[in-house]
Amino acid sequence: MFSPDEFALLIEDLSLLPSISPTTRRLINRMDEPDVALSEIASLIEEDPGLASRVLKVANSPFYPYSGKVGSVREALIRLGLSSARAIILATSLFDRIRSEPGVFGLWTHSLSVAITTRRLAGLIRFPMVDEAGVAGLLHDIGKIPYYMFAPDLIRELDRDFDPAFPDHVREKDLFGLSHVEVGARLVTAWRFPLLIRQPIRWHHDPLSSPREERQMVLIVSLSDQIAQGFGLEHRELLTEGEGFLRIAGELGLSEPSLLHLMKELLRDRDMILQRAGDLL
Ligand SMILES: [Fe+2]
Ligand SMILES: [Fe+2]
Repeated sequence: MFSPDEFALLIEDLSLLPSISPTTRRLINRMDEPDVALSEIASLIEEDPGLASRVLKVANSPFYPYSGKVGSVREALIRLGLSSARAIILATSLFDRIRSEPGVFGLWTHSLSVAITTRRLAGLIRFPMVDEAGVAGLLHDIGKIPYYMFAPDLIRELDRDFDPAFPDHVREKDLFGLSHVEVGARLVTAWRFPLLIRQPIRWHHDPLSSPREERQMVLIVSLSDQIAQGFGLEHRELLTEGEGFLRIAGELGLSEPSLLHLMKELLRDRDMILQRAGDLL
């Protein structure tokens, strides 16, 4: 067991990204600077064949279902946008470090499914920032990563003894002093993500209590999280009871036919998403 202060120190350390390669770390920092050019980032990525192939795979993945194939890192970056590409490189580098831990692959598949669902949901309700919605979906459970890094035995126990009466984020607080929404919010703040991304990470398990700032994004991510879990694309968190689900859908102005359409699409693509998740990590 950890105290909140002990775990906060570990997170502070992790926010400096000590576990990923110096080249990737430099790239992630550079991608966030205002004067950066896409061609410079493309050249940096091309220096690392593993990274280049990952960026290409993501650009040609179910994230972008109705787009043609891209063949170069430059084209991939144009499709993804630099800020989405930065989030994808960051997330995959962190997941990659702990991929052999039991439970991590499930968390990755879940994160990817939620990212795909948030993009589709955002498109459906004409939310203008579809790419950012995808990033928020991809990173929404990023706060769980430090548990696998720093306390694999404890998180294994928590995964094994899942009890719907005590959702993960409540039990995490007992074990680690900080729940994954708190850990995630600290990490994305340290990584200089905007409020639009920070809010859904902080509030996705309590969306109806979220403040007004970026509330729509919070609702989109929370609803997508629940839809993905409903289709078995899960990481065994707790679903909001039906009433909460319908209130969120109502507040987003999502009609019943649109909701059904989204669910049908996800059901249709479920196996493909599960299959492709392995390729992308
Ligand atoms: Fe979560
Ligand atoms: Fe989740």
